[in-house]
Amino acid sequence: MDPRTIQEVVKKMENFQVTIRHIEGVPLLGSTCDAWDIIYGFQARGDDILIATYPKAGTTWMQEIVDLILQEGDAQKGRRAPCFIKVPFIDLIPPKPMPSGVELAQTMKSPRVLKTHLPINLLPPSFWEKNVKAVYVARNAKDCMVSYYYFQKINKGLPPPGTWENYFSAFLSGDVPWGSWFDHVIGWWKAMDKHQILFIFYEDMIEDPMREIRKVMKFLGKDLSDEVLENIKHHTSFQTMKENPMTNFSVFPNVIFDQTISPFMRKGTVGDWKNHFTVAQNIIFDEEYKKKMEGSGLNFRTEL
Ligand code: A3P
Repeated sequence: MDPRTIQEVVKKMENFQVTIRHIEGVPLLGSTCDAWDIIYGFQARGDDILIATYPKAGTTWMQEIVDLILQEGDAQKGRRAPCFIKVPFIDLIPPKPMPSGVELAQTMKSPRVLKTHLPINLLPPSFWEKNVKAVYVARNAKDCMVSYYYFQKINKGLPPPGTWENYFSAFLSGDVPWGSWFDHVIGWWKAMDKHQILFIFYEDMIEDPMREIRKVMKFLGKDLSDEVLENIKHHTSFQTMKENPMTNFSVFPNVIFDQTISPFMRKGTVGDWKNHFTVAQNIIFDEEYKKKMEGSGLNFRTEL
């Protein structure tokens, strides 16, 4: 990425005020709301591949897996650009002169891999009109909450999370950017009846990455050898991605992403919530979870 672009963004971020507004009741960044007509009117192409997630569910990991499947395991091609350039984030409007996800996508050759955190009801309709394949990654809410808490601390483009106690309540009530974890996972889960959606669990990826990479490969209609798949597994492992400047967000200085507080590639585990939830919080969470998830048909593991 051009260092001048980063410098310009840094200047803007020094006085940046994050705002949150709502679209159909979903809290979104003010900049996303300002550009909503452009985002909602996004023109998908039939051979796009969409990676959809609630924030912190393993989006970047899946981006790398899908990209390397398309590159047939060629890690050098995988490192051609930072992950947020290779895979445009269609619902994010960064400060200028950084291009928006929509702008990046419009100039890309097919097949494009695109990222969204939008809940299903806010997804641009052209994705379904074009019958686009979507990979949805879901991660258990407790670990998502912890990961998002740290991410809101480091990412200056998001509102600061406040104390852990306050954040716990905000997350449970869906008062965080991109809204309720519950509505998000249930909405996308139900949409599988109607659309080409592969639903993958982060916990399954941790348990057996090869099995899950193979599922993604088959969903995308590819046939790669075990050797290539092993290579993809290696290049998308937590450690490799943590050391890879194209995936660890080290291209951004601290004023944008303050990784002295917490690295972007933080822990990459299942069950870190146990180091953060108090016993009382866990009881409150489990009660709320039962009410909201009952009858959804979705089962998450919070430990392995
Ligand atoms: P933690 O904060 O729990 O470590 P996203 O890409 O959706 O923002 O998700 C980021 C989360 O996924 C972080 O979780 C990050 O460490 C984890 N992650 C990213 N790449 C991973 C990988 N290759 N293996 C396991 N976890 C990964």
